[in-house]
Order: sequence, then structure tokens, then C-alpha cells
Amino acid sequence: MQTKIRLANGYTFNRVINGCWQLSAEHNLTGTTDLKDALRGFHELVAQGFTTFDCADIYTGVEELIGRFVQELKGSGHYQEEDIQIHTKFVPDKSQLAHVDRTYVERIIDRSLQRMHREVIDLVQFHWWDFNVAGMMDTAFELVRLQEKGKIRNIGMCNMDTERLKQMVDAGINVVSNQAQYSLLDRRPEKTLLKYSADHGIYTFAYGTLAGGFLTERYMGQSLGAPETRSQVKYLQILEDSLGWEGLQKLLPVLKKIAQSHQVSVSNVVTQYILNQPGVGAVMIGTRSSRHIDDNVRTLQFQLTPTEMAMIRNFISQYSTPTGECYELERTSPRYQSIILTDLDD
Ligand SMILES: NC(=O)c1ccc[n+]([C@@H]2O[C@H](COP(=O)([O-])OP(=O)(O)OC[C@H]3O[C@@H](n4cnc5c(N)ncnc54)[C@H](OP(=O)(O)O)[C@@H]3O)[C@@H](O)[C@H]2O)c1
Repeated sequence: MQTKIRLANGYTFNRVINGCWQLSAEHNLTGTTDLKDALRGFHELVAQGFTTFDCADIYTGVEELIGRFVQELKGSGHYQEEDIQIHTKFVPDKSQLAHVDRTYVERIIDRSLQRMHREVIDLVQFHWWDFNVAGMMDTAFELVRLQEKGKIRNIGMCNMDTERLKQMVDAGINVVSNQAQYSLLDRRPEKTLLKYSADHGIYTFAYGTLAGGFLTERYMGQSLGAPETRSQVKYLQILEDSLGWEGLQKLLPVLKKIAQSHQVSVSNVVTQYILNQPGVGAVMIGTRSSRHIDDNVRTLQFQLTPTEMAMIRNFISQYSTPTGECYELERTSPRYQSIILTDLDD
């Protein structure tokens, strides 16, 4: 299976991206995160060829941690900027949206560059909390200006729905990617987003694919307990609006059987299933520790058969998926909004 994708401008990223939200100060709900182990994990991932990292300006402490990693690589004496790819996000605070201007945008981008000790940001993914607040397109063009200035290599989007992605494309912005929640539980991108994106050369970067760990062996045969991380809080809502815990318990053995036939894990099967969907450029897998690296590298070392792909699709098609477009509930439903932190940037 293809392990990397190369864009027309030569920029190349991994199809399995190391997701770093899990290392932010606000993510772990039940204990402390061993950041030394996480850094060891970064080195191991790169040694295994998993060189692309995803973070955000709003993941507290994470751009700085990646900066520490970059310094360590520099210290090793044979570091070149293109050895690793760092994707960050530009997520202006919801309370500040009406005031975002040229100065605000450049200040935040400069801060990301400084935190990460990079010359250029490989990919900035733009998130806009509220489509009812004017200024989204002007802000997107500020990112284009910074791209022309040489501070940003590529521009991507984050949680944009089809209509807003089209708005960007129609305005002439060269959007290379869009992050969307996409998993066996959350199939909202299949409504229109995947097709529109694929037709316009925009790669979908999926998150939530492992549902914070629920879509792995660990939860097979288990009863529902309290969430350990913010991811799990998020994906419990999705689970409630799709298969439910009972449906999950029926799905996991189906996945396990397929996994066993390839001598891989449920996580590998679930990730490859999403990677096989049209227009999906990459799946981001949360990297909280070095624990799952040896397992996750196997994701691209086998091939699900068309029969297995159909078996999984047929199973999940018996269940509903959350309503609306990508991130619509998160923008409109008080239940979904109640767990989202919207003012961590500034
Ligand atoms: N744009 C957005 O709004 C948005 C939202 C969410 C995430 N993201 C991005 O996507 C990345 C992934 O986050 P996510 O929420 O989608 O999390 P996820 O990948 O669904 O879940 C990550 C968790 O799954 C467990 N895991 C990973 N590999 C495993 C394996 N092989 N076997 C068993 N368990 C495994 C680990 O849990 P334990 O550590 O507990 O073992 C890990 O912390 C984030 O880091 C972030 O970069 C973006």
C-alpha cells in the first residue's frame, strides 16, 4: 500500500500521520502524560518512516514539544527541515473571530514558527468556529498572503463543510487538504464532502478513526466505563449517535476476525478501511505514548480484500451515523458544543 503522497509542488506527507492533540495539557483526564516517553516515541516514529506530525496552535504545549523535538533532531547533527513534516492549525478564538485581522493572523503564525523552531510551516489548517461571524474569507486570504511571504508552504482546512470548502475553491485558494472526523462510527463525510474534495484534488485527513481507542481490541467484551481522555468524551457522543456501546460490541469481533486473518490488529483494519476510501489522503492517529507504534506501523503492510471491505461496510450500514454535514452538530447542537473548548489560542 502507498505509504506517502506527493503534491504537485513536491511536498510529501505520510498516509498515517502522528496526531499530537493527545499530548496537550487539556487532553488527559485521569493522569499525567509522560512527555519524555512521547518524545522517545517521536524519534522512533521518524526512524520507522512516520515523519508527518499534526498539531495545532490551540493544543496547549504541543507546538513547544514539537519544537523541543526539532531541537533534538538539530542537535543530532544531520537534521534537514524536510526530514519531518509538521502540520499545525490556525484556530482563532471563537470570542475573537469578529476582531481577527492581518496583525492577529501574522502574530499567531509567527508564534507557531517560533515555538516549533521552523523556517516555514509545512501546512496550516484553517478552522473557523462560527460561519455566522463575518471575516472567514478575508482571514483565509491573510493565510494566502503569508504563504506568498514564504511563512507557509501549504494551506489546508479544518472541519470545513462542503459549502465552505467550495467557497474557498471558488475564491481561488489552493486548498490541499481538509481535516474531518471520519470513522466506522462517523460517516458524515460520505454525504458530500469526500466526493467534492476528491473531485477538487483536496485530500481528506481523517481523525476519530480509532474513536479515541474505542475501535480497538482494548474495549472488546468490556462494559462502558468513564472516559479517560477528551477524545473519549468526544467519541462517546458519536458512539451514542451511531452504533451505541451494544453495536460496538458486535462490530469489534467482526473486525477482530478480519484482523486475525491478516495477523494484524483491529486498529490496523479500521485505519486501512478509512485510508481505502476515495479522497482520503491520511488518517491521523493519536500518539499519547510510544506504546502503539510497533502496532500502527503495520497499518500499511497488508491489504484488506474487496470482500472484507464490503463486509465491514455492510455491517456498519445497519446503523445510523450522526446527522448533518461534517462538524455540523459540533457547530449547532448544545450537547456537542458543551464539550468543545473554543478559546485556547490567545
Ligand atoms: N481537527 C480536529 O477537530 C481534530 C479533532 C480531533 C483530533 N484531531 C487530530 O487527530 C489526531 C488523532 O486524534 P483522535 O481524536 O482521532 O484520536 P484517535 O486516533 O481516535 O485515538 C487515539 C488513541 O487511540 C489509542 N490507540 C492508538 N493506536 C492504538 C493501537 N494500535 N491499539 C490500541 N489503541 C491505540 C491510544 O489510546 P491510549 O493512549 O489510551 O492507549 C490513542 O491515544 C489528534 O492527535 C489530532 O492531531 C483533529
